[in-house]
Amino acid sequence: MSAFKPLVFSGVQPTGNLHLGNYLGAIRKFVALQDSYDCIYCVVDMHSITAQLVHADLAEQTRSITAAYLAAGIDPKKHIVFNQSRVPQHAELAWIFNCVARIGWMNRMTQFKDKAGKDRENASLGLLAYPSLMAADILVYRATHVPVGDDQKQHLELTRDIAQKFNNDFSDRIAELGLEVEMEVGEEKVNGFFPLTEPLIEGPATRVMSLRDGSKKMSKSDPSDLSRINLTDDADAISKKIRKAKTDPAPLPSELEGLEGRPEAENLVGIYAALSDKTRQEVISEFGGQQFSVFKPALADLAVEKLAPIASEMRRILDDKAFIDGVLRDGGERAGALAQKTMKSVHEIVGLLND
Ligand code: TRP
Repeated sequence: MSAFKPLVFSGVQPTGNLHLGNYLGAIRKFVALQDSYDCIYCVVDMHSITAQLVHADLAEQTRSITAAYLAAGIDPKKHIVFNQSRVPQHAELAWIFNCVARIGWMNRMTQFKDKAGKDRENASLGLLAYPSLMAADILVYRATHVPVGDDQKQHLELTRDIAQKFNNDFSDRIAELGLEVEMEVGEEKVNGFFPLTEPLIEGPATRVMSLRDGSKKMSKSDPSDLSRINLTDDADAISKKIRKAKTDPAPLPSELEGLEGRPEAENLVGIYAALSDKTRQEVISEFGGQQFSVFKPALADLAVEKLAPIASEMRRILDDKAFIDGVLRDGGERAGALAQKTMKSVHEIVGLLND
């Protein structure tokens, strides 16, 4: 029996501008994984209409995330970069998963509860079914690994639940058709048509906090632009925001425990560690006992060195729409060919007469 080929899939929504949190929590990891895996990176435009249907600039935002992927160093020739709506098999598989998943599973999702707010009855059906489309994004390629920020962990657990229920519900058909693939789950060997996808979450600064309030996540919807470093910020803006970042009056501690109860200090140390590829302990050993008046300029220099080239490359790429659209079209064709193959088997398994 064959085994699943390791394959990475991930996606970013084209809503709002990308910031440091998206870069450190997601895109930078996407770049790093290219050397060890085949990767598919998607701009999930159909997800972005679940919270709000009408976006004046959806196409522009889709190009902008694509430009960020490329500027950060993702290679669209070796790997696949495309936007979700170009490959209709995502929506098709999501429909089947809507019939696999239970309403109760969706109702328990914390992201749904947060986004739907108090008036749940009035949320779109798409917002409720969001995780089902996300599972389809991943499983239409039978991807085995998904790099995400830790806020997406629950959605990945649901993706495994959907894969497992599909594998169980159709186990006889899958075996009859010879479509079983073997995988290891912990110590056990199980088999099925869809892999039980693993999240890739580790690494420093998966959670980057607001520069104005260390207890809140850095967010594109924060009204204060000083709270975040946008991926399009130039060197001056980056330095200014770090200079103005909220801190406390004490010097940096020399031990990690000393960061407890100091969320702003902890956040800046985490950002420094992530950008310099050091551990937080190494950063603390270097800067322990120093004032923020010393640490902040060092962090600003580091952030400018790492981020300003990405911002300028992004601006350069964004000037060439035809190039971006060409990348997405080519990626969409290659992704579509893979997705089509999976759907042919899914039709056979489910018994949808469609040849
Ligand atoms: N829900 C993810 C987010 O908001 C985006 C996403 C959609 C995604 N489909 C995906 C991430 C598939 C990983 C894999 O960040």
